[in-house]
Amino acid sequence: MKKVLIVYHSQSGNTARLARVFLKALAKDKTLSLRFLKADAATFDDMVWCDLIVFGAAEYLGTLSGMMKDFFDRTFHSAKSNQQHKPYGVFISAGNNGSRAVAEIDRIVKHYPFYKISEPLIINGNASNNGLLTIENYAVKLIASS
Ligand SMILES: Cc1cc2nc3c(=O)[nH]c(=O)nc-3n(C[C@H](O)[C@H](O)[C@H](O)COP(=O)(O)O)c2cc1C
Repeated sequence: MKKVLIVYHSQSGNTARLARVFLKALAKDKTLSLRFLKADAATFDDMVWCDLIVFGAAEYLGTLSGMMKDFFDRTFHSAKSNQQHKPYGVFISAGNNGSRAVAEIDRIVKHYPFYKISEPLIINGNASNNGLLTIENYAVKLIASS
């Protein structure tokens, strides 16, 4: 079974909504084992457990949300000395930009034994039905590429 870890942070609910749609899309695939965790509850052990890691976060004040950065701050040293190379994906919820949160994750993740398998997905504003379909498709695409 492929093990997928979804780590997300959401302050006002938009990223959480996307994360739940992402999870629901993956749950249809019975060959997957899923762990769905808020960033403050996720640990290095969860990272070791998974075969694919997906980050979901918002852009705040021109950068990645602080609670998602906290996850990286807590796991950085352990992850650096761990040589399990893993694919990762990213989805970002933002008001009108999101590229700076993506750039921040990309910058941080360069120091992790992770490799990118897909361009990050940015959804601006409250996700419409189209936005929700986009995240569903992104979930399926990530699994196919991993
Ligand atoms: C304090 C604050 C700062 C924000 N800064 C940005 C920003 O720099 N760029 C952007 O595109 N959106 C920004 N937004 C909008 C949020 O990214 C957007 O509402 C997002 O969907 C929030 O996700 P959440 O509901 O999961 O917390 C900001 C919102 C707040 C409240």
